[in-house]
Amino acid sequence: MTRFGAPHLHLQRTDSTNERARELALAGAPSGAIVTAAEQTAGRGRAGRVWSAPPGGGLLFSALLRPLELAHRLLPLAVPLAVCEAVESVGGAASPGCLVKWPNDVWIEGRKVAGVLIEARPPEWAVIGVGVNVAIADDEFPPDLRWPATSIGAEATVGAAREALCRELGRWVEAAEADVLAAFRERDALAGREVGWEGAERGAGRATGVDERGNLVVETQDGEELHLGSGEVSLRLDD
Ligand code: BTN
Repeated sequence: MTRFGAPHLHLQRTDSTNERARELALAGAPSGAIVTAAEQTAGRGRAGRVWSAPPGGGLLFSALLRPLELAHRLLPLAVPLAVCEAVESVGGAASPGCLVKWPNDVWIEGRKVAGVLIEARPPEWAVIGVGVNVAIADDEFPPDLRWPATSIGAEATVGAAREALCRELGRWVEAAEADVLAAFRERDALAGREVGWEGAERGAGRATGVDERGNLVVETQDGEELHLGSGEVSLRLDD
């Protein structure tokens, strides 16, 4: 089992923790190494978007996993599950449960609390990038951050979120595929919802779940079942 959290490089300010972690990967850093920052000047999100958070208000975290093996085939589903459990443990018993908007946005009550960006050079390594809004008031979110965003809450700390995430990643990245799929299906925010997608092809339909490879299964209006890969499509909610 990979133990995440050591070595730990913490930076006050950097462009992107994923970029620093990539450099560490190329320099031979071990699996489980993490990079965190109080502030990012060019935080990367999925599909070329930016990830921004007020300094100190969010967990800006990248972890190195190496080598990438068959056991990590469902990593894109396993990581958001780890994030859900970390967020819930830091948020306390009173906080509502998290759902995952496939492939890797983490939601609390329909608002985004965390995002995941995995950048990999298979079979050598993967950088698991996670941004969690920890203690950010609604009016502190920068205007360019996609709405609606939320955070865990004023009582939560970035350090506690980091420790919880290291612990939960250790549990989930090598978990049995059947367990990952079952847990993801429990937290699937899209199941039963109308979605549209763009990519090599565009379309619309009703999401019905994820298949054993982690693809999103959708049923189009004419009854066709499609399996969409996360790298192939950009998704929007239509309802
Ligand atoms: C998304 O929701 O689009 C994914 C956001 C991932 C953001 C995190 S913040 C830490 C790490 N470093 C980056 O540059 N991006 C990820």
